[in-house]
Amino acid sequence: MIAPEAIIRLEDGAVVLLDQTRLPGQRCERRCTSVAELIEAIQVLAIRGAPALGIAGAMGVALAAHAAPDHLAGLRRYVAEQAALLAAARPTAVNLAWGVAQAQAELDRDFGSPQEARGRVVACARRIHADEVARCRAMGRHGAGLLGADARLVTQCNTGGLATGGYGTALGVVHALAERGDVPHVYVPETRPLLQGARLTAYELAEAGIGHTLLTDNAVGVLFREGVVDAVLVGADRIAANGDTANKIGTYSLAVLAAHHAVPFYVVAPTSTIDPATPSGKAIPIEQRAADEVAAFAGVRTAPAGTPVRNDAFDVTPAALVTAIVTEHGVLRPPYALAGERP
Ligand code: MRU
Repeated sequence: MIAPEAIIRLEDGAVVLLDQTRLPGQRCERRCTSVAELIEAIQVLAIRGAPALGIAGAMGVALAAHAAPDHLAGLRRYVAEQAALLAAARPTAVNLAWGVAQAQAELDRDFGSPQEARGRVVACARRIHADEVARCRAMGRHGAGLLGADARLVTQCNTGGLATGGYGTALGVVHALAERGDVPHVYVPETRPLLQGARLTAYELAEAGIGHTLLTDNAVGVLFREGVVDAVLVGADRIAANGDTANKIGTYSLAVLAAHHAVPFYVVAPTSTIDPATPSGKAIPIEQRAADEVAAFAGVRTAPAGTPVRNDAFDVTPAALVTAIVTEHGVLRPPYALAGERP
């Protein structure tokens, strides 16, 4: 399993990330020494996945504080400007804005010096990282309790340590099953257009020695038809107060298939992904990404020039299709009323 500090860490004046755009071919680090560089890394998905974005957001605030003027009023003003840019880098995963807000809130206290204020923000960012990994381990234990021995699972996108700063949400449950001595098998849709399933989930499962099978996104129906799926396990980018869940595009289709075939559909997400301020999925902003991601494959244009493209990065699964939501606190069942769930 990849160590948390190898996925993302805060150094003096830099956020250092494992560059996920290069995986699985190359395992190399990307060093962000300004908020602008970190925003770029977030937007190209060098760091991605909701909890990891929350960690990156908090570390980005520490980066801003490091570069800020050396008097408290100027520091707060500069950090506020940079934090607003950072929080808006990607719109769907609520963890990003949450992580930024947590770190920024540290500056609301009284400080003897800018140095003391900077130290506070750094400590907060590192605490959020450690807390997310601990939340993942707790979710792993709760989620494993829902599944029998040697479960056959379908997931979507990548929800492992890469997406969370360590261990994983839905994939964390798979790790917990393996740690308990089970032999789970994970069906991994490739997750077009950016192939987080093929590039990252297959990589993490292979590293952990966990059985898996890669398939195209449009092949998953066959698995349900053949009756070889015991449960669907997915993560989330934002869960509205009523349980409606935004996750990687393709998740809703999986939920519909699961409901049709009476297969349980579990969302595994920390409370930092719950957004009490968003009443239902209708209010969740869905990131639209560049047309080129769809109109080309591996850098080669596939569609005729000028083809109109729709490229929603996420979809929303209505709460009615979610069998249970696993958080670090335990297993929640419908009807969901999540307004009070926040770390
Ligand atoms: O666009 P991405 O790769 O950031 O999307 C990530 C997902 O959709 C994950 O499923 C989600 O963030 C949960 S990760 C623990």
